[in-house]
Amino acid sequence: MPDTTATDRTRPDRLPEWAALGEHRAMLGEAHLRDLFAADPERGGRYTVQVGDLHVDYSKNLVTDETLRLLRALAEASDVAGLRDAMFRGERINTTEDRAVLHTALRAPADAVVRVEGEDGGNVVPEVHRVLERMAGFAERVRSGVWRGHRGDPISTVVNIGIGGSDLGPAMAYEALLPFTGSEAAGERGVEVRFVSNVDGADLHEKLRGLDPATTLFIVSSKTFTTVETITNATSARAWLLSGLDGDVAAVARHFAAVSTNAEKVAEFGIDTENMFEFWDWVGGRYSMDSAIGLSLMVAIGPERFRKMLEGFRTVDDHFRTAPIEANAPMLMGLLGIWYGAFHGAQSHAVLPYSQYLARFPDYLQQLDMESNGKSVDRAGRPVTWPTGPVVWGTPGTNGQHAYFQLLHQGTKLVPADLIGFARPVPGMSAELIAQHDLLMANMFAQGQALAFGKRAEEVAAEGVPPEQVPHRTFAGNRPTTTVLATELTPSVLGQLIALYEHKVFVQGAVWDVNSFDQWGVELGKALAKRIEPALTEGADVAGLDSSTAALVSRYRSLNG
Ligand code: F6P
Repeated sequence: MPDTTATDRTRPDRLPEWAALGEHRAMLGEAHLRDLFAADPERGGRYTVQVGDLHVDYSKNLVTDETLRLLRALAEASDVAGLRDAMFRGERINTTEDRAVLHTALRAPADAVVRVEGEDGGNVVPEVHRVLERMAGFAERVRSGVWRGHRGDPISTVVNIGIGGSDLGPAMAYEALLPFTGSEAAGERGVEVRFVSNVDGADLHEKLRGLDPATTLFIVSSKTFTTVETITNATSARAWLLSGLDGDVAAVARHFAAVSTNAEKVAEFGIDTENMFEFWDWVGGRYSMDSAIGLSLMVAIGPERFRKMLEGFRTVDDHFRTAPIEANAPMLMGLLGIWYGAFHGAQSHAVLPYSQYLARFPDYLQQLDMESNGKSVDRAGRPVTWPTGPVVWGTPGTNGQHAYFQLLHQGTKLVPADLIGFARPVPGMSAELIAQHDLLMANMFAQGQALAFGKRAEEVAAEGVPPEQVPHRTFAGNRPTTTVLATELTPSVLGQLIALYEHKVFVQGAVWDVNSFDQWGVELGKALAKRIEPALTEGADVAGLDSSTAALVSRYRSLNG
């Protein structure tokens, strides 16, 4: 068996498979998607993969059968499958933090057996399901109104306080699944959830607007329970609660719950550990939305739909584990990104959901992808000489079409993009709004088409456009997209989508030989902020500040009075 965590492996750009891709790229030159489609009428059907409910069409990518063969060879030479299996087995593949990477265990069936390498704690799956049960009990009590606040009122609003992975996942999923939150028609009491993350007091200030402390429940979500933003916001939230409930500290127990791996810090903060929902150090922050970090989401959508979401994750986990590379959606999507980054000079990757409900999906993916693969040393600590993670960005269609799509179509930068859409709108809309769905989706299909095939100068001229205007109205095309189409955005489909991207990111990290599971790059700024803060709050002198920062600090002080 290959040593999947070896740090002396051949650097990816020194592999013969990498060189072969470089040569192939040179041979392909500017081969156009127009010609590739013309030469192979079956292309649109052949270059698709079905994973669960997700139909993935990658035919509008700048690839041929040979490209795909070479990318497969690269994945094999990089032993992506070996590292994948090591992850699922619970090996400590997060070497810099000496941790296993087992978010897949969060959605494993109750009878699965997953052990963390080097720990005698045994199978982690029963623990996962025990916490899920506790979460379900809590969520049901809050949803049904059995859980009462300090004054005996049922809870009407949950405020989730967390940041990064302890915010983006549940916040994104809450918005995505709004149609599945409690509805009176279904005899359910709706509980609104608000999300506070920023240490800018404006965030909490605005999110508390109109809330009654007697009916508000705070869920403080933090893996470490030491994150300064979260603890600061939670402290201010507690002060707000107490000032609204006559300063009675007994109220905290009825209005605060915590999600964390750190029981000690939770207790220190003053939250009863009875109201704490745990997860484990083998769940990375950005991979944690299906752990207890999803508690606020579970309160909103209910345990049953949360379980459906987990089933969706599991469908893609099974696919990723078992499908051959050529039919494996995360493998293909990951390899395509590597192809564009290393051999086409692409710097960024756009994710464009044609669904308002997925408005926050690109934000979520930014952390997932950029915190995972925004690295410039390999797993052995050597500087990389190949491009790693792209800038990930995007907003829902059709808004972007009236903003930055100009650059996608006619700019000088290649931006590979994913288009994500659904055949049906969510249930419950009026007939007029349902009718708008075809228009939305016509736009998604049209964009994929326009980006791929463009519009030739001859076609533009044939429309009677004055010759001097022809270059302005010509579209080069050959801009790659992958389309992900599903029937409907359900909890299960959302789980499938998230797992698809989790594993795509994994594949890329494996080929680039970076540790996708640490995030040391966020530490320096945190440490410096700690040093600078006393200069702002107490006017303290900060030794060793550079002239720019020193001048900014002193200007801030004088402006701030
Ligand atoms: O600063 C980055 C980070 O550590 C993320 O990786 C994490 O998701 C976030 O902060 C929040 O951390 P915690 O859940 O421990 O508060």
